[in-house]
Amino acid sequence: MKFFLDTANVDEIREACSMGMVDGVTTNPSLIAKEGRDFETVIREICEIVEGPDIIPVSAEVIRLDLEGMLSEARHLAEIHRNVVVKIPMTVDGIKATRILSREGIDTNVTLVFSPLQALMAAKAGATYVSPFIGRLDDISQEGMTLVEQIVQIFHNYAFHTQVIVASVRNPLHVLESALMGADIATIPFSVLGKFASHPLTDKGIQSFLNDWNKFQKC
Ligand code: G3P
Repeated sequence: MKFFLDTANVDEIREACSMGMVDGVTTNPSLIAKEGRDFETVIREICEIVEGPDIIPVSAEVIRLDLEGMLSEARHLAEIHRNVVVKIPMTVDGIKATRILSREGIDTNVTLVFSPLQALMAAKAGATYVSPFIGRLDDISQEGMTLVEQIVQIFHNYAFHTQVIVASVRNPLHVLESALMGADIATIPFSVLGKFASHPLTDKGIQSFLNDWNKFQKC
């Protein structure tokens, strides 16, 4: 299972990269705005941080919502760096744009997916990735993970190559359940990654080993 980092903060990306936990990065307009920096500069910097022998996908989202606007922004974003994946909102024009961009060889991530049929449309249009937002479904008392389960099943039934990015991840359980369901990727906020890196029994165990070692040294 791949871990993407869901952030536009370059310090977080550097830190997670040093742990080898960054198979990709996803951003959205809200995450970029939070950093208060120029959009293209941030995307270029993220691509340079993750650059290596393998292509590490970095999702950058279009702002325009009309087809021509989306296409022109998408082509421009794709030229920033070879790692850029263009994030397209799940709308009718978004689907049309995805189909055209896929034929041009530009990777796409169809975002704001809240139903399995939206995901199926995106896959049929040739999306490289789809992003079901599970936390936001949980927020309105719908089981976000059920959506992931259904999308994984549908893509498996018809052997789609579109990869499932579980997005709007709020806690470690979302990542665990995604892994058990066979989702390709979870895009994880840095704070959530930190939560499952540690365990109180690991800390307790380390402390107890050190205490025993220090007692033995004094003998
Ligand atoms: O990956 C999508 C994510 O950025 C949205 O997360 O927490 O704003 O629902 P959230």
